[in-house]
Parts: sequence; structure tokens; C-alpha cells
Amino acid sequence: NLSLSVRELEYSTPQSCKELKQTYKITQDGLYYLSTPSGVVYQTYCDMTTAGGGWTLVASVHENNLYGKCTTGDRWSSQQGGSPNVPEGDGSWSNTVTFGTAEAATSDDFKNPGYYGIRAEDVAVWHVPNNELVGRWKLTSFLRYHTETKFLNNYGGNLYNLFKQFPVKYNVGSCPANHGPSVPVVYDVGSATSNHNLYGPNIRANSVPGFITFRAINAERAAMAICSGVKPTGCNNEHCCIGGGGHFPEQSPRQCGDFTSFDWNGYGANTEWSASKQITEAAVLIFYR
Ligand code: G3P
Ligand code: CA
Ligand code: CA
Ligand code: CA
Repeated sequence: NLSLSVRELEYSTPQSCKELKQTYKITQDGLYYLSTPSGVVYQTYCDMTTAGGGWTLVASVHENNLYGKCTTGDRWSSQQGGSPNVPEGDGSWSNTVTFGTAEAATSDDFKNPGYYGIRAEDVAVWHVPNNELVGRWKLTSFLRYHTETKFLNNYGGNLYNLFKQFPVKYNVGSCPANHGPSVPVVYDVGSATSNHNLYGPNIRANSVPGFITFRAINAERAAMAICSGVKPTGCNNEHCCIGGGGHFPEQSPRQCGDFTSFDWNGYGANTEWSASKQITEAAVLIFYR
């Protein structure tokens, strides 16, 4: 119908991959256009096959320089240095700033309007090696898991609202009393054990595998956004949790950045507190359904 106005076209665009699957019967993984409720159209990746499909990519956390401590590219922590004067850092976990593109989600940070606009129930997380092309994400990912508890119903339907309740901000609480939720996960690629082994042995001794944890806090009251694959049982979570506020007091700014202190005992060393090279050099893709 050539008389469709641009506005009508926008309003006929689905608002999530779940809607694209359910209403439009799309079953192929790949890049699609979605719309916000107010009609802003954006492109993102839909996983239409895992565990029933309908998963919308809403964000990726990418560490462009682990030696850069809260420097350029640390959008999920602070690009403004590490300082108690910027306790929330860039504030990306609970604001409506968007950045990046779906196609570059393994090469740079990505955040689209779905992150704060979609109402979802569960999350999925993929760890995909940096700089992989979209068509190879599924093949090259070494960890993929999802929640099944519909936990987001209890936290406002997305991570934007969850992190409003649990601010990713220095000095808002103490460890372990004030951690946010830990949610059990089901693995689609890899396992709870293989995920655990990608962190340093000291972290393995101070965490339980098989969970995703939101807004962990460490001994020095630094806040982190996501502990992928673990529930912390100690307070040195800066070696297994990603994203954060703008201040990490221990040897500041050594722990400040999107991948926090994965390199504490050497880059990619996978000894003591250090994470493996594999997880250090992979983007963390976050999906909603
Ligand atoms: O986060 C690790 C740090 O707090 C303790 O390091 O070297 O005393 O084991 P270390
Ligand atoms: Ca960095
Ligand atoms: Ca980054
Ligand atoms: Ca520590």
C-alpha cells in the first residue's frame, strides 16, 4: 500500500524480536529493524532459535583497552577517570544514552533503545570473541546462557529499571549485604564449570558458578553491574564482574574500567585473581526476552 505514511510504517515496525517472531513469524537469526514506542527505528540482532527464540540484543560490553583504567571506551564504567567525584561514572546502566551499532557489537560498546524501552522477563548473555562478524557470533561464542525465572518482572521489566533500584555507583552499600539479585542460568553453549574456569583460581574459590549477579559490591564499596556466570561469595568481585561506577578505591584507578580488574595478576594470566585471555578478549552481549 503506497499510501502508507512514514509514521504508519514506523508504527508497524515490531518493538522486540519476540514480537517479530510471534506476530510476524520470523524464524531466522540476524539483523532486523525494531521501533521504540515513540517510533524511533533502530537495527539490532535477533536470536530466533535459542530456547524458543525471540531474544533481542540490547547491549554489548566491550573492553577496548584493559590497560586503560576508566579511559576512552570504558562507557559501561567511566570514561572520565576513576574518582569518588564521579561515583556513577558514565551512568550508562541507568540512563537513556545510546551508542554503537549492532554490527559492531563485538568491536565496541553497544546500547540501543531496547535496553531501557523493552519490557522483558529474562536475559541471555553471550561471550563472543572481539571483532567477530555478525554471521559468526553464534559459531564462535564460547559461552551462551539464559535465565528462565522471569526475574525481570520483579525489577521493572528491564535492566535499566533494575539498576535504578540497584545503582551502579560507588559507596551505595557494602559487601556482601547489599548485592543485587543473583539469578540461576541455563547454558546453551559452555557450562557453569567452563565459565567458572575462565576466571582466576582465587575468584573460583570465592564464587559459586551457575548464576548471573547484578550490582555486586566489593570490599571497598565499589559497585559493579554484572558478574557473568557467578554468584560471589567473597568481596574481591572486581576480578569477575564487569561494568561499574566511576570509583574503585583499591590501588585506584587499577580496578576501574569496563572489565574492572581482570588483569590484577597479569593480563590474561588466569592465575591468582587474573581472568583468562579468552574471556578478557571477548565482548559480552546482553539480550532480553
Ligand atoms: O583483589 C585482590 C586484592 O584485594 C588482594 O590481592 O594480592 O593481597 O591477594 P592480594
Ligand atoms: Ca579500559
Ligand atoms: Ca567499553
Ligand atoms: Ca580486592
